[in-house]
Amino acid sequence: MESIILGIETSCDETAASVVKNGNTILSNIVSSQIDIHKEFGGIVPELAGRHHLENIRPVIELAAREAGITLDEVDAIAVTTGPGLIGSLLIGLSVAKALSYGLGKPLLEVNHLEGHLFAIFLEKKPPFPFVALVVSGGHTDLYLVRDFGNVETLGRTRDDAAGECFDKVGRIMGLGYPGGPIINRLAAKGDPQKIVFPRPMLSNRSSDFSFSGLKTSVKSWVATHPLKESTEEGQTICDLAASFQEAVVDVLVSKALAAAERHGVKAIVASGGVACNSRLREQLSMAGSKKGIQVYIPDKGLCTDNAAMIAAAGHLKKIRGENGWEKEKLFSIDASAN
Ligand code: KG4
Ligand code: ZN
Repeated sequence: MESIILGIETSCDETAASVVKNGNTILSNIVSSQIDIHKEFGGIVPELAGRHHLENIRPVIELAAREAGITLDEVDAIAVTTGPGLIGSLLIGLSVAKALSYGLGKPLLEVNHLEGHLFAIFLEKKPPFPFVALVVSGGHTDLYLVRDFGNVETLGRTRDDAAGECFDKVGRIMGLGYPGGPIINRLAAKGDPQKIVFPRPMLSNRSSDFSFSGLKTSVKSWVATHPLKESTEEGQTICDLAASFQEAVVDVLVSKALAAAERHGVKAIVASGGVACNSRLREQLSMAGSKKGIQVYIPDKGLCTDNAAMIAAAGHLKKIRGENGWEKEKLFSIDASAN
């Protein structure tokens, strides 16, 4: 039976809605970003995020339906992010989804934001189970062993800053704009990754946990003792700094993901979340995987950052896994501490 799912995502600073057919055909994928609003503050202001979701959510949903060529009463279910995220932001998406569900008489599928990132790849490809998943975003840096859709074990996570948060904070230390991740990535392409040797936190440690706050402090100390102010944004020093910092983060992420895959004897790694847009990470992870006979799957960049297609796709998986038709229960047993 064909299924058409409307996905709604408002966990952070993107107001997103998407219509997905059968869990893998994206009919529309609308993302209204608030970056321009938050960048003058150097980070997300939760109160502003909530207010802008409230303004944007209806037009974004209407546009998603229009682009998909459907009316809302043609959807079979509504999938919505219920957490983790900013409470005021989540409430907007959830309230609208509940109202639509009630008004249209369609089931509501509750999706954990991390389930969305974890299974975004299924919009494009079918990685073989079991696989190791690296979810790297502004809020999370997690490693999972995914045995099946309903069987996800957390192997490790960051003990302090998330990788994306570290990129953004280092961007601020370097005097770059917000978010720092894509800017550092762009500058790093013109820099020497070996120029400055930054620590690779937790690398000598066998656990699958991460730590990035010390690395951020190392960059801060380096900047305090080197004349960055004299460099222009495109100056060589700043590009070398960006490349050297990025290399440290990428080294840690690649090594930990690979070590986890080898330890558990799996043949596939999936990476997702905003930091998985990083070109050096994409390149190094794929290269390291192919040397070890491990296939690396990374979604298209637009499906790595926050979007509602991944929420609709995860909702679809819940539906087809539900034994009694539509399933409201959590099917992906990501443990509660991930919230
Ligand atoms: O998944 P996402 O859109 O939102 C969260 O769930 O957090 O991830 C946003 C994060 C930000 O920290 C941003 O700086 C980072 O992803 N990011 C990148 C790149 N593109 C986005 N970090 C490094 N390199 C990139 N190219
Ligand atoms: Zn996210």
